[in-house]
Amino acid sequence: MKITVVGTGYVGLVTGACFAEVGHDVMCVDNDESKIAMLRRMEMPIYEIGLQELVERNVAGKRLHFTTSIEEGTDFAEVIFIAVGTPPGYRGEANLSYVEQVGRTVAEHMTSYRLLVEKSTVPVNTGMQLKRTITKYIEGGLDFDVASNPEFLREGTAIEDAFQPDRIVIGVESERAAKLLREVYDPIVKKSGCEFLVMNIASAELTKHASNSFLAMKISYINAVSRVCELAGADVEQVAHGMGLDSRIGQKFLNAGVGYGGSCFPKDVDAFIHLSDQLGYDFQLLKEVQRINQNQREHMLQKIKHELWVMQDKTIAILGLAFKPGTDDLRQAPSLYFVPQLIEARAKLKLWDPIASDNFKKLYPDLTYCDDILDCAKDADMVLILTEWPEVRDLDLKKLKKAMAVPVVMDGRNVFDPAEMHRLGFIYHSMGRP
Ligand SMILES: NC(=O)c1ccc[n+]([C@@H]2O[C@H](COP(=O)([O-])OP(=O)(O)OC[C@H]3O[C@@H](n4cnc5c(N)ncnc54)[C@H](O)[C@@H]3O)[C@@H](O)[C@H]2O)c1
Repeated sequence: MKITVVGTGYVGLVTGACFAEVGHDVMCVDNDESKIAMLRRMEMPIYEIGLQELVERNVAGKRLHFTTSIEEGTDFAEVIFIAVGTPPGYRGEANLSYVEQVGRTVAEHMTSYRLLVEKSTVPVNTGMQLKRTITKYIEGGLDFDVASNPEFLREGTAIEDAFQPDRIVIGVESERAAKLLREVYDPIVKKSGCEFLVMNIASAELTKHASNSFLAMKISYINAVSRVCELAGADVEQVAHGMGLDSRIGQKFLNAGVGYGGSCFPKDVDAFIHLSDQLGYDFQLLKEVQRINQNQREHMLQKIKHELWVMQDKTIAILGLAFKPGTDDLRQAPSLYFVPQLIEARAKLKLWDPIASDNFKKLYPDLTYCDDILDCAKDADMVLILTEWPEVRDLDLKKLKKAMAVPVVMDGRNVFDPAEMHRLGFIYHSMGRP
């Protein structure tokens, strides 16, 4: 089956390559010429485990093509997925200008029936707006459908998630659209055995926002509990374990730390609050989720200040810049909160990240970047852990202590065991643990 995917970012490129892998013929479109040029040279514009091999295999198999021309993409296939960015606008609302632009351009160039599928995360009723836009720009009388197919993949495990999804959600208004999307997903549904849920467009759009906001809420909940643990002398890791064994709660997303970041949770919670406001509901619960998240960072900064007292000229080794392990994505990463704060306090920074350093260098070219964790920690007055990369978990702690000027570890991800750290002679601070 022929498929066009517009937007070759973290979602579009993975989706396009995975559709090709299951046998479809896929055209990936992006208006960023440098991205398409890189892809044509078989260089990946983003880091995702297994992506390079997947793209190479499917380009060689002539099932995956790249273009900057939306006209070509519109001609190529009946089904067109929209996977462009929906970044936060000025007041937290989703910026839908890229989605609108794609809808308009497809409408101007289509010459027969097309199904436009929103894969980008969009507020409820975007489907309706997209339909109005297409109707306005289309050559008289052509038939089309709009559908919603929210994406739930996670950076770091995106390919695995695409082939083994927990569920596939589609929102449609016609049997024709449902049939086409069943055909698109048939190989994945058959192989993974996942549920294929068909609902109306508004419900599909809302399923995405409601899911992401719920996960963010779970993180903020355990972070709030971690603050009480600190005050009460309890250990949040033990509390979370005890809670998570209840099958109604579950262990996942109960990790206390410096809070969530990334390209989705902060912006999707913002957008859901904004959307609810517009619809007439004041979603106070989600406002608190955001406040707790921001507060965790400020709380950690206070701990750093308290421990170092005078920050000027102290060397701080930051381990982890990406918002989570397995990605080079820096959007809303905690590092982007801490680095400017620590620079302002005139601390000397040394930075380590196995994948995201190059992206960080574009923002802060003059800082010191290290390829090796122990080099980074050498002569440091403090190690600050912001991303729980496996390389951090596997650190030889004795060597770490030896490398540092003063063995102070500020652990924003609760990677190490406090008792073990104290036994080894570290001054160790983490989140919500005695
Ligand atoms: N990143 C994730 O983990 C994730 C997961 C689920 C859903 N989402 C959602 O998916 C959407 C895309 O996210 P992303 O992380 O892939 O974004 P991204 O910024 O990595 O990619 C978006 C791509 O769209 C391209 N683009 C923008 N306007 C275009 C146009 N008019 N024509 C062609 N290409 C255009 C950009 O050049 C860019 O390459 C967002 O709505 C996001 O919320 C993201």
